[in-house]
Amino acid sequence: MQTPLCRILNIDTPIVQAPIGPATNPALTAAVSNAGGLGMLAFLRRDADEIRRLISGIHERTDRPFGGNFILRGLEGTEARLESCLESGVSVVSFHWDDPYEYVNRIHAADTLVMHTVGNAEDARRAVDAGVDIIVAQGWEAGGHLRGEVATMALLPRVVDAVSPVPVISAGSIADGRGMAAALMLGADGVWVGTRFAASEEADIDPSYKERIIKASETDTLLSKVFNGGWDAAGRALRNSTIEMWEAEGRPGDGERPGEGDVIAQGTDGAHIARYASIGPYTGVTGDLEALSNWAGQGVGRVDRIQPAAEIVRELAEDAVRVLGKADRLIQDL
Ligand SMILES: Cc1cc2nc3c(=O)[nH]c(=O)nc-3n(C[C@H](O)[C@H](O)[C@H](O)COP(=O)(O)O)c2cc1C
Repeated sequence: MQTPLCRILNIDTPIVQAPIGPATNPALTAAVSNAGGLGMLAFLRRDADEIRRLISGIHERTDRPFGGNFILRGLEGTEARLESCLESGVSVVSFHWDDPYEYVNRIHAADTLVMHTVGNAEDARRAVDAGVDIIVAQGWEAGGHLRGEVATMALLPRVVDAVSPVPVISAGSIADGRGMAAALMLGADGVWVGTRFAASEEADIDPSYKERIIKASETDTLLSKVFNGGWDAAGRALRNSTIEMWEAEGRPGDGERPGEGDVIAQGTDGAHIARYASIGPYTGVTGDLEALSNWAGQGVGRVDRIQPAAEIVRELAEDAVRVLGKADRLIQDL
């Protein structure tokens, strides 16, 4: 399946493995790119040296295009990390949260494309006016941190109309071929898939978190600001014991939440992780992992097994083609 996005990114199938924080690693990114999609490495919690090392690990595994992602929250440390990622050679740099406009010319000068994640049509238009090459429209159903409040069915056609012919990638609960086909029918040029790849064999996510993803249904996530430690932002995560405690107390505000400040886990470097922190149970985090922020989108109900990332790419693409073929036959039968 080829869309204009495939030609722009030089990929075979319009499937992007969403940046899913520290769960991304060279094995995951390269596996997706080698399977014909676009693998993405997230730079969250990674410094310039680590970014260089991880990108070199991807180059060792693939000669296909791949991307890197920044969550911009203020500009601290961005310069050095951006330099490191451009020098190391990525095909596309993606941004989420704050506006990335001041970096666009610099990234283009390095012969690299710019993507930006938005949650409404107005932000999409502003991004394109600032030179962004590809828009990611993130629907309210998505897992992880969310800027917008609009569900994909309402958001995607608005964003597509606002920026056409600039390619738009649909993000938010796309977990199977039906979701992918629907997004393409709403005008997307490709799909951006997070939670399903979080349950891939390669993702650096604790096995217990992957198990929780597999067992969860579409009603098991909550969008809230409850896990706002270090970052006052809304995000969608699996319901868990921390959310239950907080809801039982009537959803109190910061400073009044039950167990606030309790250290319930340790990071890979031994750092203390408090109950309402935004760090999830990635590989190497130890402690009460169930009570941490287990980020996931509403499409989690369609994720029912742990698979190699390449198999996920193949399944999504084949199923989407089958569904689109069925739609075609429906019209012919009329
Ligand atoms: C575990 C997890 C970590 C995430 N980390 C990032 C990140 O580092 N950068 C980013 O731009 N988005 C991040 N997101 C959001 C995803 O890029 C994407 O928008 C979302 O996963 C799409 O929805 P889905 O999970 O329903 O497929 C994260 C999402 C999850 C589930």
